[in-house]
Amino acid sequence: MPLTRLIVQQFRNIKACDIELSSGFNFLIGPNGSGKTSVLEAIYLLGHGRSFKSSLTGRIIQNECNELFVHGRFLNPDQFELPVGINKQRDGSTEVKIGGQSGQKISQLAQVLPLQLIHPEGFDLLTDGPKHRRAFIDWGVFHTEPQFYDAWNRLKRLNKQRNALLKNAHSYRELSYWDRELAELAENISHWRAHYVEQVKGVAEDICRHFLPEFDIQLTYYRGWDKTTPYRDILENNFERDQHLGYTFSGPNKADLRIKVNGTPVEDVLSRGQLKLMVCALRVAQGQHLTQVTGKQCIYLIDDFASELDSQRRERLASCLKQTGAQVFVSSITASQVADMQDKNSRMFHVEHGKIEQG
Ligand SMILES: Nc1ncnc2c1ncn2[C@@H]1O[C@H](COP(=O)(O)OP(=O)(O)OP(=O)(O)O)[C@@H](O)[C@H]1O
Ligand SMILES: [Mg+2]
Repeated sequence: MPLTRLIVQQFRNIKACDIELSSGFNFLIGPNGSGKTSVLEAIYLLGHGRSFKSSLTGRIIQNECNELFVHGRFLNPDQFELPVGINKQRDGSTEVKIGGQSGQKISQLAQVLPLQLIHPEGFDLLTDGPKHRRAFIDWGVFHTEPQFYDAWNRLKRLNKQRNALLKNAHSYRELSYWDRELAELAENISHWRAHYVEQVKGVAEDICRHFLPEFDIQLTYYRGWDKTTPYRDILENNFERDQHLGYTFSGPNKADLRIKVNGTPVEDVLSRGQLKLMVCALRVAQGQHLTQVTGKQCIYLIDDFASELDSQRRERLASCLKQTGAQVFVSSITASQVADMQDKNSRMFHVEHGKIEQG
């Protein structure tokens, strides 16, 4: 489901841009500070309702302007063009349009525009805390399990409510009624996550073997509490500890995807280039799995493609992406770094001082 056209207005240093896109590779070439990452950031905003660089809307709206717009047209599976758009104002308000209808939700945008971002700071998936890996799992569950989004939001609300109740409760009995629903939701969410990891694992291991043949990768899912005890019992058994902490310690909010190579945590073994390749392998695996399960293609945004990768590894990644048949946006400082990836379907865009011209 590629984007066929992208319109960006008043976004960082991009005053106005309107480009027709390739359904294959789109290269963004330009010097430092020209606006390459900003184009990727704008597409990301269209699919996620937020930037991957800044949580403050004021930072992404062009200086001296009050609002930004990102519009796109994408081909849906039955080959109809569907317009999507997002407008953000300096006061923080957001307007989402899908198919000409305003007042749509950001989660609906995410549903129609599955995106995978690979950027130089993306190592945090492997080296930082579990938050990023939970987000990785939840991206997949969100796109493959229709009930997940509502269940997750409900669970978050119940968790908040429980934490408030914990403060004043005299005995566990005061919580047990609420915990029944919380436990059921937590078990469901955990079941979906485990199922997703089980499925994507095989695809990820295959791609990792191709990218990093010298390593044997192991992915294991940790659900956030001991695997033999029902969540209901965890909530009850840990009541005093939770009350002392002021929040519910164990649960789906502690889930993780544990990644090891040759039995050792990845960050202790892999070089920076190898870490980047592993992140790429995991992200491409998610995209491939999405296509296998739903028939949907995701769009890959690859910022600073050449950084950390030698030419042989770049080639491996490029050919793997080509095989997926997905739309890919690649930013690079020089055209020579992406020369091998060009074909008759690809498009090259030159970026200079926030102006994007097809080359
Ligand atoms: N709110 C804003 N309004 C106007 N310009 C901005 C705003 N925020 C950032 N900029 C400028 O926009 C440009 C954004 O550059 P961007 O990060 O897209 O560059 P790039 O081409 O990816 O560079 P690099 O190769 O260094 O990664 C920078 O020159 C930055 O100073
Ligand atoms: Mg950049």
